[in-house]
Amino acid sequence: MSASLKRLNTLGIEAQSEQLINVTNIDQLRNIFLGQGAHPRPFLILGSGSNLVLSQDFPGTVLHIRIKGIEIVSEDTDTVTLSISAGEIWDQLVGDCVDKGYYGLENLSGIPGTVGAAPVQNIGAYGVELEQLLVSVDCMEIATGAIQTFHHKECKFGYRDSVFKGEVAGRYVITNVKLMLSKNQDNSTSLNYKGLETEFEKRGLTDPDPSTVRQVIEEIRQSKLPDPSVLSNAGSFFKNPVISEQNYIQLLEKHPEIVSFNLGEGKIKLAASWMIEKAGWKGFREGDAGVFERHALIIVNHGCATSHDILSLAQQIQNSVFDQFGVVLEIEPVVV
Ligand code: EPU
Repeated sequence: MSASLKRLNTLGIEAQSEQLINVTNIDQLRNIFLGQGAHPRPFLILGSGSNLVLSQDFPGTVLHIRIKGIEIVSEDTDTVTLSISAGEIWDQLVGDCVDKGYYGLENLSGIPGTVGAAPVQNIGAYGVELEQLLVSVDCMEIATGAIQTFHHKECKFGYRDSVFKGEVAGRYVITNVKLMLSKNQDNSTSLNYKGLETEFEKRGLTDPDPSTVRQVIEEIRQSKLPDPSVLSNAGSFFKNPVISEQNYIQLLEKHPEIVSFNLGEGKIKLAASWMIEKAGWKGFREGDAGVFERHALIIVNHGCATSHDILSLAQQIQNSVFDQFGVVLEIEPVVV
């Protein structure tokens, strides 16, 4: 029986799947993969659908991963290692950890989505990327139902990138993530992201504790980013492009005010939002597809935009940024 996926993707795109199953435990998942219950293939693995563009109806079974559980695997006086099931909600985990005195995740406050989805795009914000805290990822192989562990190095993390988006995409389902956090409040929180520093200064905070950092970040995000339950979106729609220092110098001649970040080793990251805004797209709307009025990197669905509306707007933005800056913008969410 077909099922609507509109409520299962935060961009609010209407698409159908042949079947939809809520997965609440590992044995259920293995049985599905081993062919019990005759569920049409292929499988689409879904957490909160917050980093997803459904470009068409899905001709198979959608598995909505809702496996819950958090356990302490090991701890000493300074650190704790947690094993977290894929269906836990990311931001609830961050809040629980800060409350319990496990630090390091606070800069990643307010990111929508589940724990299982977090390693796929190596979520990052305000100077911290998930990979800095991640020990390993457990996955179930779809072909065999066997559990396999990917240690940090095997995850091949990059900027909004991992092996799960690349060479093993579609072969595994993430079931569990292990993170190592600090029990020591000092030095565990990253405070030197530019926008964050300015915000602390404005509030007269010199050495904010992790729960204050979480609170400030929640407020920054609420002021800049649309809440998907109010205005449908999938977060940043494009990656911030990384170019060579040589190309950057040429670009700077034409656009001396371009916003960038020096990554070192001859690499410069450009603020895609700045270029999109300069190209005139901020607040643009055509039908129900638009660019958020307070942040140019977010494509929003005002109600009934189709994937075609969203992707053709994205294409127009990509073309115009390329024409103006000679820079290629890559789509950040997963397009299925
Ligand atoms: N800016 C503009 N116009 C805008 C918005 C921003 O010119 O409309 C400029 C400002 O100069 C600002 C700079 O761009 O200083 C960077 O903006 P911001 O700090 O908001 O970060 P971002 O590069 O646009 C990235 C992540 C976000 C993450 C923020 C904060 C990517 C693709 N996006 O956005 O992640 O929350 O940094 O760390 O790397 C996501 O991945 O879905 C996401 C929301």
